[in-house]
This record gives sequence, structure tokens and C-alpha cells, in this order.
Amino acid sequence: MTGACRKSRRPARRAQRSPAVRVRRAVPGDVALLCELSESYNNVIRRHARGKAATQLLGSERRFFERAVLGREKDTMVLVADCAGRGVGFVFATVERTADDLVPAPYIDIALLAVADSHRRRGVASKLVREVHREARSRRIVNVVLAAHEFNKGALAFYARLGYKTIMRKLRKRLR
Ligand SMILES: CC(C)(COP(=O)(O)OP(=O)(O)OC[C@H]1O[C@@H](n2cnc3c(N)ncnc32)[C@H](O)[C@@H]1OP(=O)(O)O)[C@@H](O)C(=O)NCCC(=O)NCCS
Repeated sequence: MTGACRKSRRPARRAQRSPAVRVRRAVPGDVALLCELSESYNNVIRRHARGKAATQLLGSERRFFERAVLGREKDTMVLVADCAGRGVGFVFATVERTADDLVPAPYIDIALLAVADSHRRRGVASKLVREVHREARSRRIVNVVLAAHEFNKGALAFYARLGYKTIMRKLRKRLR
């Protein structure tokens, strides 16, 4: 589960000197990192919603991640990417066993994915998601789904690059 922590479009020689990215299962000591990365994305949502977003409070997220990591349930995957020995990204995915309208069960739902600002565009998220794909295949699961905010153009471009297609849209109209 390792690979060069490359800087996007760097010459190959420089990429070879970059520290490796290692993807591993999360351990209890990662909970603070998971909260920090998840909270930084919550802030993006809050800014977008101008303070009206209903994102979870940090305290409940900490309990959520503690349960997810300590529980080690077979249908929950919490993976962390380390670069030079430091956690720089994570993915949280679950195996869903009830069919969706369009997706037969079982399927994988990627619920959370985040990479530290300092380590973006180096292939860290690609490595995390590919590891989720590898785990899915090892369980003979062929569908992976996720929801992304329409304003989150970076994430939409990222998933498109990995071959994900939009199958549903959430619409809203504000009534006056
Ligand atoms: C989206 C996110 C996870 C991508 O992580 P990353 O480690 O930077 O992604 P990668 O380096 O693996 O990107 C692979 C490719 O995806 C595309 N991509 C990634 N981020 C992109 C962006 N912001 N804009 C356009 N394309 C992007 C590029 O094609 C990139 O390849 P390149 O760097 O060679 O051009 C990261 O920006 C992030 O943590 N964002 C905040 C949290 C978030 O939005 N999570 C997803 C919620 S659905």
C-alpha cells in the first residue's frame, strides 16, 4: 500500500526523491487527525452556506470517529494516508447491504474523504480511493457510490478523473 508522494507534474527525478505515501487502517491515535481534516471541510461547507449549514459539532464527530475506529466492524473502513510518517489524509467508507434505487446491494459508500491542504494534488486521495476499490474487489463488491456537493468542483473533478459518473442530483428551491 505504498507509492511515491509525488508533486503533480514534477519531473520524474524529483518525484523519485519524494517521500512515500502509505495507506493503512486507522488506529485510535488517528482520531484527532480525522476530526481535524473533517472539521476543515465542515468549515468549507459553513462558509459556502454562510453559517447556516447544519454540520456536526466537533464533539459528536470525535465520538463518531472513536466508535468507527475502535469498533473495527467488518463493514466499516477507515483508512489513513501517511506521508513521511505523518497522517495527511483519510477515507471513511461503509459496506451498505440494502439496495439503493439504482445500485444493487451490497455496495460501498464513501462517506468522507479529505487530504490536508499541504498535501493536495500529490495523488494522496487517489491512493486512498484505490485502496477502497481494492477492498471492494476483495469482497466481490463492484459498485462504489458517494455524494459530493455541487459547489465542490475540486472533488467533482477528482472523482470524474477516477471514472465516477453522476447518477442522481439533489435539487433545492428556496421559497420566499
Ligand atoms: C478532493 C480531494 C480529496 C482531492 O485530494 P488530492 O489528494 O488532492 O487528489 P489527487 O492528488 O489524488 O488528485 C488526482 C487527480 O484528481 C483531479 N483533481 C484533484 N483535485 C482537484 C482540484 N481541486 N481541481 C481539479 N482537479 C482536481 C486532478 O486530475 C488530479 O490529478 P493531477 O493533480 O495530476 O492534475 C482534496 O482536494 C480534499 O481533501 N478536498 C476537501 C475535502 C473534500 O472535498 N472531500 C470530498 C468530499 S466529496
